[in-house]
Amino acid sequence: DCFYIELLNGHSMPRIGLGTYKVQPNQVASTIESAVKIGYRHFDLAPSYGNEEAIGKVFSELFAKGYDRSNFFITTKLGSPALRASDVPKAVERSLRILGIGYIDMYLIHHAFGTKRTKDFDWFKYKNGSLALDYTTDHIAVWKALEHQVWAGKIRSLGLSNFNQSQILRIWNNSWIKPSNIEMEVNVYIQQQRFVDWCQDLGMVVTAYSPLGSDDTTRFRRKRQAITLPSQLEHPLVIHIAEKHGRTPAQILLRYSYQRNIVVIPKSTNPERIAENLNIFDFELDQNDMGRLRNLDQHGKYKKFDYSTLKGVRSHPEFPYVTSL
Ligand code: A2P
Repeated sequence: DCFYIELLNGHSMPRIGLGTYKVQPNQVASTIESAVKIGYRHFDLAPSYGNEEAIGKVFSELFAKGYDRSNFFITTKLGSPALRASDVPKAVERSLRILGIGYIDMYLIHHAFGTKRTKDFDWFKYKNGSLALDYTTDHIAVWKALEHQVWAGKIRSLGLSNFNQSQILRIWNNSWIKPSNIEMEVNVYIQQQRFVDWCQDLGMVVTAYSPLGSDDTTRFRRKRQAITLPSQLEHPLVIHIAEKHGRTPAQILLRYSYQRNIVVIPKSTNPERIAENLNIFDFELDQNDMGRLRNLDQHGKYKKFDYSTLKGVRSHPEFPYVTSL
């Protein structure tokens, strides 16, 4: 079934999910409800997005109305303030309680680095006092704690986000449960072909965040790096291919990643765009389209979101944090 991709542990993941970063708590209800009505079943969340509580309320209402929990695929993440083996049970319990979903389908380590928590860290709001880095981050210890959560039935599948090749390999070689999913920034300007191939050859499903290349960090980078390229949705080639297929630029960008076997999690709060982004299964880009879109890759010139502005980042043992190969 082309709507799903199989994970190495046998579970299935819908190939299109709704990204929820930057969905404001007051937009959550209408956004999630339209997405579910339109057919979305995969949702990408994180404690640090500040909207898990609101999203949890909507899920509870939907399940009470008769929507079947088991048809949903819900991803959430272990955030940097909880990136310690001893914090894992609490972080998982917190997401389960706030979301009211019984189990987590996919639990990702959000970032390769941990941050220190102040004494008055608010677990509910998931706010830490400062973003001071924790230099004692121990991925293997954290992973072992995560495996116990799977064995306890609280999580179905484990994965990583924003990890690089050596970090992935270290976990891969020291684990019972292999990471089945890697989330990273992928779009036509940041294609990461070698890294994506490597991850997929290992057996991980690759999920692209910012699949339309249009988040705030991109705008920020464009300014800093004096990038003169148009936004990906406005690139003349993307528009040309969209016109040829009678589709929108967003659909071309998402279909391109789909044909690379990459799961996409576009964010939108607009019902029409939410619908548009799911409607990519009934057309196909030909070899010529694929080749021309491949040429839009900026080969690292258009930089990935790399946390390099965080204070003290370069002396952290896990630096660099960017996914790369
Ligand atoms: P909006 O929420 O108003 O629809 P990405 O997931 O790559 O970060 O992209 C998200 C951004 O792209 C958001 O600003 C979102 O705005 C916008 N967006 C999402 N879907 C579409 C679409 N189909 N066409 C144009 N813009 C879109």
